[in-house]
Amino acid sequence: MNTLTTTLFCALACLFLFISTSFAQSPEQVHLSLTENAGEMRVIWIVQVNFNTQGQYRTGNCSVGLTSGKYSATFTATSSTYSEQGFNGTIFNAVLKNLSPDTFYYYTCGDAISGYSKEFTFKSAPVPGVNRTIHFVQWGDMGVRNSNDSIASLSKDLAGFDYEMIVIGGDSGYQDDFPSPNAYILDNFYNMLEPFASKMPMMMSDGNHDEQQSYVQFLHRIQMPQPWTGAANLSRFYYSFDYGPVHFIVYSTDGGHEIGSGSEQYNFIVADLAKVNTRRSITPWVVAMTHHPMYCSALTNYERCHPQATAFRKQIEQVLYEGKVDVHISGHNHMMERSYPVYQGKVTSKSLHNADAPVYLVNGAGGNVEGNAVIWELDVAHRAAHSKTFHKGYARMHVNSTHFEWDYVDASGNTIIDNVVLSKD
Ligand SMILES: *[C@@H]1O[C@H](CO)[C@@H](O)[C@H](O)[C@H]1NC(C)=O
Ligand SMILES: *[C@@H]1O[C@H](CO)[C@@H](O)[C@H](O)[C@H]1NC(C)=O
Ligand SMILES: *[C@@H]1O[C@H](CO)[C@@H](O)[C@H](O)[C@H]1NC(C)=O
Ligand SMILES: *[C@@H]1O[C@H](CO)[C@@H](O)[C@H](O)[C@H]1NC(C)=O
Ligand SMILES: *[C@@H]1O[C@H](CO)[C@@H](O)[C@H](O)[C@H]1NC(C)=O
Ligand SMILES: *[C@@H]1O[C@H](CO)[C@@H](O)[C@H](O)[C@H]1NC(C)=O
Repeated sequence: MNTLTTTLFCALACLFLFISTSFAQSPEQVHLSLTENAGEMRVIWIVQVNFNTQGQYRTGNCSVGLTSGKYSATFTATSSTYSEQGFNGTIFNAVLKNLSPDTFYYYTCGDAISGYSKEFTFKSAPVPGVNRTIHFVQWGDMGVRNSNDSIASLSKDLAGFDYEMIVIGGDSGYQDDFPSPNAYILDNFYNMLEPFASKMPMMMSDGNHDEQQSYVQFLHRIQMPQPWTGAANLSRFYYSFDYGPVHFIVYSTDGGHEIGSGSEQYNFIVADLAKVNTRRSITPWVVAMTHHPMYCSALTNYERCHPQATAFRKQIEQVLYEGKVDVHISGHNHMMERSYPVYQGKVTSKSLHNADAPVYLVNGAGGNVEGNAVIWELDVAHRAAHSKTFHKGYARMHVNSTHFEWDYVDASGNTIIDNVVLSKD
């Protein structure tokens, strides 16, 4: 090689090294969630740089503004790590504040050494009770394997800004179904969701697949609102928030987290329902969500729908019924199932207008390494609809002050295979 070629070769090699190093370390897995305060949005992102040797000396921040490329405010991020399952990256967590409702914002996050993410856009939450229809997608039990159809279908639905929130009923990633060290599975999972979760808040409950090593990965990578000011040991696992005409209550049925009378979560749910029932004119709809179903009729894992669902009902059904919860969402079973309004095992009405008991939705067909199931009990009185194929799927919900529409989507064709509208005066 002559000198010129050598120089050129070296320059190219150095450029390649530089690019690959900076790519390896640039902000990734960017995702948003609501906080316990109005006018805020939390951003979590990860940089694959060892926290203990470099990450902890870094200060990350996010800049946000109303116009692309023009940022009017910057918010500092905290950083953390964990050492289980081979993880050694740096997790940044920042809260954007003073946001106006229902407004588009542009933002970028990063730090001086790794550089900044590309610019993302999100729409802030509306004021509670806003007089318009809100649109969100909802799934459960989605991992990085077998979810390609769901992701392809969601990519169509979430391409623009028609949808404004993602609601997940537990089991995110399924890393614990892979050999240790498996932290990379969650890196893949949050990278897979970044195109969606960087543009709208992603609100979730925990599930049994999030429990690995005392939830260490779950608790570092996501942070949900913590509005409860009472004595709380489990405050990272239950919360409530308003989004337009809907009040959401999320609670945990995994990790040995109790929901029986006198438990911390039971007290929270009772108090939260009492509070929301003083202002149902603002949020007419109340949705409760946890991972485990309360009403279901799958024969796969038979115990889930009988001893287990029965036990959950004994603990909390009365509270949900008296608190006038409209819709209960769960996952866990890798299938879709929708009930009629039902209380104590009896259908109270087949009409969905001013229903006097909750409708129970099981939506755990997002797709994961364990596969989906389609074996059902026959002739179940409370069952109004259920999935009949192994196809993956998720729901789209459209809610205004008087109407709550559920569309269950077969992801293989982006087609609606179950549609109902609950309504109230
Ligand atoms: C960080 O973890 C990765 C595997 O995830 C490993 O390849 C790398 O050597 C680790 N770095 C340090 C500095 O421990
Ligand atoms: C944001 O972080 C960058 C990189 O560390 C730093 O240069 C900048 O001053 C920070 N901005 C603010 C407003 O703190
Ligand atoms: C809500 O909006 C509709 C149409 O935009 C309007 O007709 C109605 O009066 C509004 N209701 C309230 C309570 O503002
Ligand atoms: C998802 O993967 C399955 C199985 O490999 C394949 O049949 C299907 O075409 C894929 N779907 C998409 C949207 O890529
Ligand atoms: C929190 O945990 C402690 C120790 O287990 C227990 O004594 C206390 O009652 C718990 N608090 C609540 C609100 O459950
Ligand atoms: C609420 O949604 C229903 C059904 O789509 C529609 O008929 C009604 O006009 C909407 N109400 C408002 C206030 O937007």
